[in-house]
Amino acid sequence: MTESKKTQARPTLKAVRGTRDLLPDQTPLWNHVEATARALFARYGFGEIRTPIFETTELFARGVGEETDIVSKEMFTWEDRARAASEKAQSLTLRPESTAGVVRAYIEHKLGETGQLQKLYYIGPQFRRERPQRGRYRQFWQIGAEVIGPQSSGSESPLRDAEILEMLASLLDELGIRDWCLELNSVGSSEDRVRYNAALREALAPIKDQLCPDNQRRAETNPLRVLDSKDEADQDLINALPKIADYLGPESAAHFAQVLAALDACGVAYHLNPRLVRGLDYYTRTTFEFTVTTGLGTQNALLGGGRYDGLSEMLGGPKAPGIGFAIGEDRLILTLQAQAEANGTSTAPPKLDAYVAPLTPAQNPAALALARNLRTAGLSVEVGDGSFKLRKSFDIADTVARQIILLGEDEVSTSIYTVKTFATGEQVKIPSADLAAKLNP
Ligand code: HAM
Repeated sequence: MTESKKTQARPTLKAVRGTRDLLPDQTPLWNHVEATARALFARYGFGEIRTPIFETTELFARGVGEETDIVSKEMFTWEDRARAASEKAQSLTLRPESTAGVVRAYIEHKLGETGQLQKLYYIGPQFRRERPQRGRYRQFWQIGAEVIGPQSSGSESPLRDAEILEMLASLLDELGIRDWCLELNSVGSSEDRVRYNAALREALAPIKDQLCPDNQRRAETNPLRVLDSKDEADQDLINALPKIADYLGPESAAHFAQVLAALDACGVAYHLNPRLVRGLDYYTRTTFEFTVTTGLGTQNALLGGGRYDGLSEMLGGPKAPGIGFAIGEDRLILTLQAQAEANGTSTAPPKLDAYVAPLTPAQNPAALALARNLRTAGLSVEVGDGSFKLRKSFDIADTVARQIILLGEDEVSTSIYTVKTFATGEQVKIPSADLAAKLNP
């Protein structure tokens, strides 16, 4: 077989199902979102934490919960064989979320011993083997934050819950997301939930056979999970089940009332949703999601979070109440794009300040030198090649830059340049000393 036939026979390789590439026409919006979030988090006193992308499987089994969809069916897990006699084989998992890893790091680095409230944020990829669709991927990005610390640091205060929610409202507003809705609930303390679970079991027992097989199993193993079932046929039965709000003890009820009062004082609107129990087992008391009506279709949860007062102890750490959230960055971007489209505006990256077009190859070196000076002055500049036809230079320049600088023999010898602005069609001559200032938007 000839070399070319061999090459032809090979199938082209593609990104794995549920993963995707973000190309340079998309990444500016991602960077803008991330930069806005970082700047806002800094104003609220958060610092960045970066935890590993894979952890022991046991961390998620204990933290997120064996019975959750995430742990029971969606994790990318593999057996890491021992490579040396000193090493043990262990089961590892690509992180499906970051809260468990952050709390593990909190325990491992004894951050609680500082006595101070830890306000930590992260931005990074997560992995879940879900059925891919719009807004749902197998590798997706989260922008999240956790507030955690010993009780003496105020980590349990309802003010923390309200501050997180107010911060999220400010972030979505600052990013220009319209029509978001904050869905809010309290799932009570672990003691409240023992009573609520008993009531749920009792209510589920006579109707169990009418539910889908997944919900029948959940009714046995973890009845709370029935509440976040999306199964269409089961919805009426689920809506008629007892509500957690009626089973909150006085402390949980008072805590939730104070969260709501602080939100009212800040003018952050919310919608109480008694079925919002969330798909992870570590939640206690406040749980929430922000949803949007445009751009996401059925995957309308832009972000989710809540309190997890017992998670540190579940992972073998000290008592360390906490609350946090994770924004689905992919979904945030889809929403921004859909809302911009509906508005007739654009999320496309801005054009470069200038395109330097040498008229013949003889001006190439001078063109690169000019581009260097302008870039040093802070302008964004692309440089062409003198072998391009002038027409072609104009066409390329028009797609990538706001202005074109023509560089012929005269321009190089006089250091006076011809600059055309595409938006207005205006063409002017500018001496090199004034060029950087004149090209600025
Ligand atoms: P979660 O609700 O599982 O919570 O995920 C948070 C957000 O991540 C979702 O609202 C959604 O926007 C996004 N997301 C989840 N799965 C996918 C997917 N397959 N494709 C695209 N986006 C997705 C957590 O992960 C918790 N760790 C949040 C938290 C932090 N709770 C307390 N602290």
